[in-house]
Amino acid sequence: MSNYHIKTLEEYFQVYRKSVREPENFWQEVAEEHFVWRKKWDNVLSWDFSKPEVKWFENAKLNITENCIDRHLLAQGDKTAIIWEPNDPKDEAVHLSYTELHKKVNQFANVLKENGIKKGDRVCIYLPMIPELAFAVLACARIGAIHSVVFAGFSASALATRTLDADCKMMITSDGSYRGDKTIDLKGIVDKALEQCPDVETVLVAKRTGADINMKEGRDKWLKPLMDEASDKCAPEIMDAEDPLFILYTSGSTGKPKGMLHTTAGYMVYSAYTFKNIFKYENDDVYWCTADIGWITGHSYIVYGPLLNGATTLMFEGVPSYPDFGRFWQIVEKHKVNQFYTAPTAIRALAKKNLEFVDKYDLSSLKVLGTVGEPINEEAWHWYDNNIGKSKSPIVDTWWQTETGGIMISPIPFVTPTKPTFATLPFPGIQPVLMDEEGKEIKGNQVDGRLCIKFPWPSMARTIWGNHDRYRDTYFSAFKDKYFTGDGALRDETGYYRITGRVDDVIIVSGHNLGTAPIEDAINEHPAVAESAVVGFPHEVKGNALYGFVILKEAGESRNQDNLRKEINQQISDKIGPIAKPDKIQFVEGLPKTRSGKIMRRILRKIASKDTSDLGDTSTLLNPEVVEGIIEKSL
Ligand code: PRX
Repeated sequence: MSNYHIKTLEEYFQVYRKSVREPENFWQEVAEEHFVWRKKWDNVLSWDFSKPEVKWFENAKLNITENCIDRHLLAQGDKTAIIWEPNDPKDEAVHLSYTELHKKVNQFANVLKENGIKKGDRVCIYLPMIPELAFAVLACARIGAIHSVVFAGFSASALATRTLDADCKMMITSDGSYRGDKTIDLKGIVDKALEQCPDVETVLVAKRTGADINMKEGRDKWLKPLMDEASDKCAPEIMDAEDPLFILYTSGSTGKPKGMLHTTAGYMVYSAYTFKNIFKYENDDVYWCTADIGWITGHSYIVYGPLLNGATTLMFEGVPSYPDFGRFWQIVEKHKVNQFYTAPTAIRALAKKNLEFVDKYDLSSLKVLGTVGEPINEEAWHWYDNNIGKSKSPIVDTWWQTETGGIMISPIPFVTPTKPTFATLPFPGIQPVLMDEEGKEIKGNQVDGRLCIKFPWPSMARTIWGNHDRYRDTYFSAFKDKYFTGDGALRDETGYYRITGRVDDVIIVSGHNLGTAPIEDAINEHPAVAESAVVGFPHEVKGNALYGFVILKEAGESRNQDNLRKEINQQISDKIGPIAKPDKIQFVEGLPKTRSGKIMRRILRKIASKDTSDLGDTSTLLNPEVVEGIIEKSL
């Protein structure tokens, strides 16, 4: 039996049991089976969740890019590593072999070095889904620089916050980006962000749109001529197992975004091992994850996980709706995609369109379908199963988080019987528990509670960049000696898990994590606004949408309310990005508050969801009279 590739349900249970009973032996065997180590570890695991401190494969030496690229050169140097499908279907796709990828990454790594980047420096990457994005990520890893990829849909202000927080020395961007029929001035956004970031010494600019952009003398450099001149040989920096690999920001329920720090060896072992099993990747398969590399899904399951397994991974620059709603399926047919991994929000949006968009294309190459990012509702699950998988491709509903680095709860295809809306069983090495609000573990089946993990796993984030106290407070203080996920879950009679959603003030809109506090801060900065509260409400396509309740400084503010709404939305776009704009903004006279001054969001959530028949206990409200008024004028 190989621990590395699970083939039957019985084997899954065996492997799982071993992973719980002898975690160190178990992970040691996985780590030995498939990777190149410059030096093996002295100790598999040491941990203490009270600090919290977790170390995997202590004192091992390695470079993750050697495992992603160099290792495959001899046996399969000509195999396609990355297929790049451009925004416009009329443009040609690019196929990059492992040998070509090796060259590009080495050249890019040398460009980084020549521009003063060394091990431990932070490099911010703000790029569209073009091959340079993958090269940039891997080039950083090659020389031991810490990449911090910021999704290229974030605003200048959000980019500046992240660049400053990670203290980045360099920015990598492009002249612009294409998204469907839109062109976005990425470099303009970078210029604006960098007005606040004096420590960024160099900006490398990839050419994509050919737009006429400003190049700041001494700071901004075109990437291509530097790449062309650079040597294509670059010895990998030998890293310690626990050296940082990357920072990736995720929203918190309060305060500024959290820079989750992932380290090298554990992340490598776990992202590779999960990829192999959860997508049942076989040698000549073409695998496609539709996420953006700006999110954790793209890090682990477009770049690292697939390449660590020598896979062919597809990167798509565009959007599902351009030039029409058949674009995803056209790509599946064109590249004979075998594994397809997307988000429920995309499935719901496509399910609303005519089936002709699907039926036009040959989807017979598909073997495994995946979803991630938010709960998938039953209707969307069946639509995906019937129309895309033709009821023969298992759906892996994968639950995980930016913080977890890799998939935690998921079926293994052709092994775990699936059940709509259930992420099913924990992956080997993952020990989920459900807790009640008093901090007691809820044992047995047919129960629900707060989802925690009680034992470390290799790819867990080690800290929040620059704020270890916040890391402890956010994840390890709600329940003693447990990692708290922020999610609620239920466990059915067979032990299958279903994730029911966030139990904190994070709202997932179209698969994007949004904290309510930063959105409220953005609204409150409008000069006419006194106070605001943002809550989520169910939305057919997005899963959740945002509803803002806003108190104006001058009641009965004479200005046109539609204009005010527009200004507030603009403010949110500028501060965070268009994804954080509320669907509805209601101007209210007051917000329901407890005697201690806390906004009672529970009531606002009910109003936003049009579920006001039973508002629950309102006896602790300081101002019950405002509730009627809000309901009356609700949108
Ligand atoms: O609430 C859970 C939801 O997404 C959150 C994590 O978001 P993020 O860090 O952006 O990572 C998304 C991609 C890994 C989780 O706390 N979530 C993620 N996957 C699922 C899910 N909810 C239900 N089912 C899932 N499969």
